[in-house]
Amino acid sequence: MRLQLYRGDQEPLPPTNDQFLGQFIPLHYHYQMLQDVDRMRAFKTAIEALVSPGMSVLELGSGTSVLSSFAARCGAKVHSIERNPELVACSRKLIQDNRLSDSVTIVHDDAERFVPNKPVDIVICEMLHVGLLREKQLQVIAAFKENYLNAFGPPLPRFIPEASLLTVQMVQQCYDFEGYIAPIPIFQPPAAETTGTYEISSPYRYGEIIYSDPFPMQFSVDRKIRTERTGMFNALRLLTQNIFSIDEHMGTFVSWANQFLVLPIIQPMQLSANDMVPIKFAYRSGDELSTFCESLSTSLPLSQRTSKAA
Ligand SMILES: C[S@@+](CC[C@H](N)C(=O)[O-])C[C@H]1O[C@@H](n2cnc3c(N)ncnc32)[C@H](O)[C@@H]1O
Repeated sequence: MRLQLYRGDQEPLPPTNDQFLGQFIPLHYHYQMLQDVDRMRAFKTAIEALVSPGMSVLELGSGTSVLSSFAARCGAKVHSIERNPELVACSRKLIQDNRLSDSVTIVHDDAERFVPNKPVDIVICEMLHVGLLREKQLQVIAAFKENYLNAFGPPLPRFIPEASLLTVQMVQQCYDFEGYIAPIPIFQPPAAETTGTYEISSPYRYGEIIYSDPFPMQFSVDRKIRTERTGMFNALRLLTQNIFSIDEHMGTFVSWANQFLVLPIIQPMQLSANDMVPIKFAYRSGDELSTFCESLSTSLPLSQRTSKAA
């Protein structure tokens, strides 16, 4: 049945480099996603607001198929595309155990090449990493859109999420772990006030992706950012907000923030409020954190640095 319905499920999938570079999320990590209450509730609320009985829904990168299950429980027929064979086997069993086999079909395929055999109403895709680093959300959705438009022409289905907003912020981060100083990347819950982190600037938005529109695959910042507080600038914090569904009539939206990512800079500097600090970085969506860090430069003119030290 699957083979008749979906062209892309016909060939065995060779392992690719991506599977070792951030896309190949092992089964035990999916527990973290399932127990992330904010993530789960936001997706469930958005799916319940947008999916209605009889709709056709596609999930790209379905993992345990939990998001597919939300759509199925709204009365949709769902096809869940997953590349990792371990997840395919596991989610087939989970869908069966949850008595959703009549509504959800798991397809073992690469979402970058998969094309449904008929137009769909909604596409769900959660390959969202902070900064859209590591995971290939943009590559997968861009490829899907191209394949879909070639097969059916416009209109595109509605996407969940509808948009992602990327921001960056200067912070002072405590890297003292019981007397051991270790300035390394830190993930933290998405809350402005986090123990050990002191905000020096407001978040600056450097990327805005609306999934149904053409979107950039590269992001860069090369500008001066104003400090708002005095502090030792020793790290940049990346914040990513994902908008799942917008209700224009009600003026409301459902959103979810990725974990924040705090990345140390090489040359910490003491700053005062209203300093203008040059921040420069560039990366491609899906790049490793190391690529981001290698591209990063933050420096004050020497004259300013000397006077600060004095
Ligand atoms: C962050 S997990 C999300 C899983 C699930 N959607 C959820 O919300 O719990 C991303 C999933 O996408 C899968 N994936 C990544 N790249 C893929 C691709 N090109 N084709 C199909 N699945 C892919 C991964 O194996 C992983 O299971």
